[in-house]
Amino acid sequence: MITLSRRPGGSIMYFGLLVLTLLAVPAAAAAGENPLPASQARGHALARSVCASCHAVETKGASPNAKAPPFRDLAGRHVPLTLQRRLADIAETGHYDMPPINLHADEVQDVVAYINSLEPPAAAR
Ligand code: HEC
Repeated sequence: MITLSRRPGGSIMYFGLLVLTLLAVPAAAAAGENPLPASQARGHALARSVCASCHAVETKGASPNAKAPPFRDLAGRHVPLTLQRRLADIAETGHYDMPPINLHADEVQDVVAYINSLEPPAAAR
């Protein structure tokens, strides 16, 4: 008798999301010229306006709120998919002293694209 091992339902969808996230970045990067592809640039603008009051969102500098990790550290800590799910949760329920924020799924993706464009510190590589 043959037994097929099956992955739990839903994993195919997550895998699809992961592939989409991974594909979006190099495709945009290949367009060249602009220092940041469009989605990263939108994510950067969002991060500056919504997150920068607590987090360091640039490639250097300390976070205004010492407890909030600099975004360049997050890049090394999460793979794109878990970061995306975490940000979706954060947008919905808020986190720490931050109130819930109104981010669309595609805005979450932009912020993820931006965070992942930041070089993680050497120690996290
Ligand atoms: C009012 C301050 C504040 C604002 C605004 C804020 N954060 Fe945070 N965030 C924090 C603090 C504080 C922590 C870490 C707390 C800890 O680790 O104990 C944190 C942690 C995080 C983490 C890592 C936590 C985890 O569970 O992985 C992510 C990701 C994050 N923030 C994303 C964002 C994003 C994206 C924005 C903007 C849309 C944002 N934050 C805006 C205060 C803030």
